[in-house]
Amino acid sequence: MKPRSTISTTNMVHVALSPSIVIFCLLVIDSSFALQMRSVDIPRFPTSSSTIRLVCNYDLGPDRLYSVKWYKDGSEFYRYVPKDTPPSQYFNVPSVLVDQDQSNDREVVLREISLLSSGIYTCEASSEAPRFKTISGQGHMKVIDLPDSKPILSGGSPKGYRVSEWMDVNCTSPNSRPPAQLKWYINNEMVDPRYIIQLPPFKSHAGLYTSTLRLRFQLKRHHFIQGHVTVKCTSTIYTEYFESSHLHVPGLGLGEKALESRTNGSPRLNSSQFPFLLISCLLFCLLTFPPQEEFGPATCSTPPVSRGSPHPTRTISTSSTFLTSWNTIGTSRS
Ligand SMILES: *[C@@H]1O[C@H](CO)[C@@H](O)[C@H](O)[C@H]1NC(C)=O
Ligand SMILES: *[C@@H]1O[C@H](CO)[C@@H](O)[C@H](O)[C@H]1NC(C)=O
Repeated sequence: MKPRSTISTTNMVHVALSPSIVIFCLLVIDSSFALQMRSVDIPRFPTSSSTIRLVCNYDLGPDRLYSVKWYKDGSEFYRYVPKDTPPSQYFNVPSVLVDQDQSNDREVVLREISLLSSGIYTCEASSEAPRFKTISGQGHMKVIDLPDSKPILSGGSPKGYRVSEWMDVNCTSPNSRPPAQLKWYINNEMVDPRYIIQLPPFKSHAGLYTSTLRLRFQLKRHHFIQGHVTVKCTSTIYTEYFESSHLHVPGLGLGEKALESRTNGSPRLNSSQFPFLLISCLLFCLLTFPPQEEFGPATCSTPPVSRGSPHPTRTISTSSTFLTSWNTIGTSRS
């Protein structure tokens, strides 16, 4: 009993001393239950002629809604007042076509948006008496116009190329806004910037752009994989658009060149070593899986041979008989 009364007395003293704190706290608690804006959801990069939904995500709390107003770049285009009949009305703002049937106190639907519909969209909500609170939030929208087609590749020779010939191809992404970003790849790898010629975007009708990126390089033997070279061009607009086109062409007269590169390159297997490796492998199989034992579907792989090492004992330690014969072979060879 005693400690409790002590506490309450102290509290009372504090309360008595600071009524302003209490009022402040009440106000804070009170306003945290009042009308608040959670978010205003505006599509960031919608495509032209689509239908979009703008959402005003407010929280009324105990308040009653007086009005919701929508603005584009400061001009009001839609208003919802629950007490009015009808509750909603819209105003003429260029490039803002409200679908009134689908719009309400929470969201607005716009149809047939165009490049000119881009701008800052604001939602403003107000509560009724006694608080008359007004809150707002906004989002930026940039309408994009997608290219008319996939990237167009021109100038390539579909018949094929010879080693040391030049490949000169243009990649064009027609009529978009903003201009599409183009990239070239050779056999799926990024291209050396020295092979790329960036042409300025061409401004076509209705404020649209045509992007062109030129790829020009001299073909080397290594560009041909299984006899073909593949060049690919990708076209992107922000994260909203991605298309690619490619050219898969054969190498011409690769026969001799291919042979040449094989003899010039480092030999994988010295032909004089081959019989020795074969015998070793057979021996290994015989000794590891002797015929009297059960023959599983054993796979025989070439044991790791290091020509420089005179002691293969370190790597192979399964069978001592095998080791003996191994060493014998090794000695007989050297
Ligand atoms: C690529 O486009 C440029 C600029 O339009 C032009 O000069 C060039 O001839 C074109 N190259 C090919 C291979 O079509
Ligand atoms: C293969 O190895 C032998 C020695 O074992 C050597 O004389 C010969 O030059 C090698 N051949 C090649 C093509 O490297």
